Amino acid sequence: MERTFAIIKPDAVERKLAGKILARIEEKGFSIVGMKKIQLTRQQAEGFYYVHNERPFFNDLCAFMSRSPVIVLCLEKENAIADWRTLMGATNPANAEPGTIRKDFAVNIEENSSHGSDAPETAAFEIPYFFSALELV
Ligand code: RTP
Ligand code: MG
Repeated sequence: MERTFAIIKPDAVERKLAGKILARIEEKGFSIVGMKKIQLTRQQAEGFYYVHNERPFFNDLCAFMSRSPVIVLCLEKENAIADWRTLMGATNPANAEPGTIRKDFAVNIEENSSHGSDAPETAAFEIPYFFSALELV
């Protein structure tokens, strides 16, 4: 079993797409072991995305991620990290496969509805950034 970290991003929560995205997660066999709705401060968004702090899109990204609430999730299944990335689709919805969350729901390359850890080391940073051990059941 493997765990990954996911976010339903502000654009999707604002458009009331959380339920549809959660249904896809469960249909694909993930167990939701942690879930909460929170609104990130600008500083919390910057800390979460620190690996991108030299990128031209960093400021816009942190403003977007802190503008309204998100749903943060810890998901568990075999091969959870890769399988969640597959279910999300490519970063840019224009390049995403049909049937993926980003193809079906994303607004554009930035407002792309979901986040997923990209490697075990990333998941190991991201899960405890948001969840204590007692919150994962
Ligand atoms: P994520 O980390 O959110 O799961 O997305 P990702 O791995 O597919 O993409 P990444 O390269 O890590 O980028 C993080 C997020 O930054 C925004 N972005 N905007 N305007 C742009 O060119 C641009 N590029 C990336 C997206 O919200 C992306 O998911
Ligand atoms: Mg990423």
